[in-house]
Amino acid sequence: MKLQDKIAVVTGGGSGIGTEICRVFAAEGAKVAVTDVDLKTAEKVAKEICSADGEAAAWEMDVCDGNEVDRVAQNIVETLGRIDIWVNNAGVSYIVPFLECSDEVWNKTIAVNLTGTFNGCRAALRQMSIQKAGCIINIGSQSGKQGNTQYAAYCASKFGVVGITQSLALEFAPLGIRVNTICPGVVMTPLWNDMLGVYAKKRNLKEEEVIPYMESKIPLGRLTQKSDVTAAAVFLASDDASFITGQSINVSGGVIMN
Ligand SMILES: NC(=O)c1ccc[n+]([C@@H]2O[C@H](COP(=O)([O-])OP(=O)(O)OC[C@H]3O[C@@H](n4cnc5c(N)ncnc54)[C@H](O)[C@@H]3O)[C@@H](O)[C@H]2O)c1
Repeated sequence: MKLQDKIAVVTGGGSGIGTEICRVFAAEGAKVAVTDVDLKTAEKVAKEICSADGEAAAWEMDVCDGNEVDRVAQNIVETLGRIDIWVNNAGVSYIVPFLECSDEVWNKTIAVNLTGTFNGCRAALRQMSIQKAGCIINIGSQSGKQGNTQYAAYCASKFGVVGITQSLALEFAPLGIRVNTICPGVVMTPLWNDMLGVYAKKRNLKEEEVIPYMESKIPLGRLTQKSDVTAAAVFLASDDASFITGQSINVSGGVIMN
């Protein structure tokens, strides 16, 4: 097992990619703090992990609220002893023509995706600085490397995640703390529930044509699977990646190459 007895915190662990990271980290031997703004979903995931003989517990945590993130991080340390791995995964996404992008959409996207990552990094690094060890994995996006139409707020938030990753990797390397980002391509999770129809409209497609259209643009010919992201996350969290920091690794089937 690659993460035996590591203490891992995952934000937005109650759904989609975050849930799968929680499950796979637990299967690799980690004790997982499943956190989410929606406590019920986090509790369900923690319960499922425990039923499968893994170790997990749930915390309610809104990543937009820095004080709450600090409080929860402190509580996790008091309960589990330390923080070895912190995954900033919580995110929201809206496809909106730029001239229709409201303050609300802009502010929410930046608050969850970028400020949420800042809050998570700061809380994690306070503890990791004391430990002089630890690693942070941010969940960015291919839209953090390449702009996309009707996606300005999301792209801005995810480009920001790449920037904070590089900056913190440099600042905390002397303490042996690593900071990396995973940039997935499109993964069919609940995030896409409301967006498939909007995407269809944006590309002038029928809804059932969206996935084949997306796949036709991907060199490796399929969408990103949650398992593609978790494989990268386990690798980055493990000692196998002990000399890797400041990287924003594309897991997008060849769509992005820089
Ligand atoms: N699905 C994709 O196509 C895709 C592609 C690239 C990157 N990503 C990124 O992956 C991450 C996870 O996305 P997903 O597809 O699993 O989405 P999802 O909607 O399935 O899950 C997101 C989770 O984040 C939680 N969340 C939302 N706001 C929060 C807040 N303020 N505080 C704490 N938790 C909050 C939600 O409750 C939910 O459990 C996001 O950062 C997203 O931007 C997703």
